Parts: sequence; C-alpha cells; structure tokens
Amino acid sequence: MRRFFNILDANSNNNFLTTQNARADIIGELEAIMQYEAHLNQTDNTYAIETIRDIVKEEMLHVGQLFGLLFYLNPESKTQFEAGLKEFDETMS
Ligand SMILES: [Fe+2]
Repeated sequence: MRRFFNILDANSNNNFLTTQNARADIIGELEAIMQYEAHLNQTDNTYAIETIRDIVKEEMLHVGQLFGLLFYLNPESKTQFEAGLKEFDETMS
C-alpha cells in the first residue's frame, strides 16, 4: 500500500498515527474495490462474478467502518466530510 507520510516517525503520538493509519486503510479499501471491480469486468464466469460482487460489498462496508473510526479519532474530518456532502447535495438540487 502506498504511504503518503512516514508512519514510523518516532515523534508522532499514537492518536496521530492511528488517525493516519485509518486514512491509509481507507485508501487500501478503495484500492481493493477498484481492483475487484476491474477483475469483475474481465470475467464472464458466473461464480467469479457472484463471489467478487460479494467481496466488493464487504469492502464498501469496511470503508464505512474506517470512516467511522476516522471521524471518532478526528472529529474535524467528520465535520468537513458532512459539509462536503451538503455542498454536493446543494449542487445537485
Ligand atoms: Fe476490506
């Protein structure tokens, strides 16, 4: 998985590391979804399609769980996330 920061920084406190790790894990889940969906588009095998679709749903659930963790660790992320959703909804209406 790509890392955009040095999670091994000895000067970092645990909450910072846990927050950054949650963000990195969200990226990892999204990358997994992209890979599974790419593989879905490369098969016509019914069993593969059924299996991969089930896994994609599970990965989407993991994204939600990790956002929950991120919002718990960094409430400003939740505030800004919700503001972004509101702006999007206003744009679409
Ligand atoms: Fe996952």
